[in-house]
Amino acid sequence: MRVLVTGATGNVGRHVVDELLAAGVAVRAMTRRPETARFAEDVEVVGGDLDAPETLEGAFEGVDGLYLFAAGKTASVLEQAKRAGVTRVVLLSSASVGFGDEQVGESHRVAEEAVEDSGLEWTHLRPGMFATNLLEWAATIREEGVVREPYGLSAQTAIHEVDIAEVAVAALTTDRHVGQVLALTGPQVQTKVEQARTIGAAIGREIRFEEMTPEQWKAELPEEVPGWVADWLLAVWAGATEIPETALSTVEDVLGKPARTLAQWAADHAEDFR
Ligand SMILES: NC(=O)c1ccc[n+]([C@@H]2O[C@H](COP(=O)([O-])OP(=O)(O)OC[C@H]3O[C@@H](n4cnc5c(N)ncnc54)[C@H](OP(=O)(O)O)[C@@H]3O)[C@@H](O)[C@H]2O)c1
Repeated sequence: MRVLVTGATGNVGRHVVDELLAAGVAVRAMTRRPETARFAEDVEVVGGDLDAPETLEGAFEGVDGLYLFAAGKTASVLEQAKRAGVTRVVLLSSASVGFGDEQVGESHRVAEEAVEDSGLEWTHLRPGMFATNLLEWAATIREEGVVREPYGLSAQTAIHEVDIAEVAVAALTTDRHVGQVLALTGPQVQTKVEQARTIGAAIGREIRFEEMTPEQWKAELPEEVPGWVADWLLAVWAGATEIPETALSTVEDVLGKPARTLAQWAADHAEDFR
């Protein structure tokens, strides 16, 4: 079996590559910058841009399964994949598809539709908040031992990127998840204040959480963050302050072992915060 991994340099994709190799599956990894990307020796690296299907010529040759990052011209990418003999696609979608918002989740909804219309066997992965988002706290934790954000009591279910990757590999390599929409979360609900404390425990340092107002936080965002994204995040955090997110059992149901905790994630990323 051979799998083409798109988004292979990303937080999740790089672990999909590793987990497939560990399962004895041949891996072809796609990146827009093959000259700088670093992969294990056994990985076949191909250049390709999902926005420019003409760059994907030959990428699907001899490929059975596709791990698809939701970017670019999904429908024509899938058409090419099918023509070349690919039979299965696993899409990294997002929990935001379920929010029913016109902007948030729209690109993932469109990608899911294209996947379902492709005639390939499919599985959608719909993770909630990635624990890797907390790497945005790394600079102030390293420099000042502090996290500054609004809605410290927002109660979230951060998921470890390796769990998403392992679920993707299960969907690619077994027949059990064909036609399924897998909503994925971490195993616990923790407020931001608790998350900061968990990272502190992993690095042996007390981390303070300083509550900002939403206005202060927005004023300090980099210019490239669109206003609607900031407002959406604030609304999600405000919502999860009133009604905590729910931790789902999907990862454990699929993998037959508990999902990784945030403490484990923090231990795996301790060097990022030191
Ligand atoms: N962060 C969250 O909390 C969260 C929650 C739910 C869902 N999601 C979704 O998960 C995805 C992010 O996953 P991630 O964190 O693993 O990725 P990431 O670390 O943001 O990396 C993006 C990857 O996509 C590749 N890529 C981007 N545009 C491409 C294109 N046009 N053609 C080919 N490759 C392209 C990049 O590859 P090269 O640069 O090497 O070409 C890179 O490997 C997004 O769709 C996001 O909406 C995120």
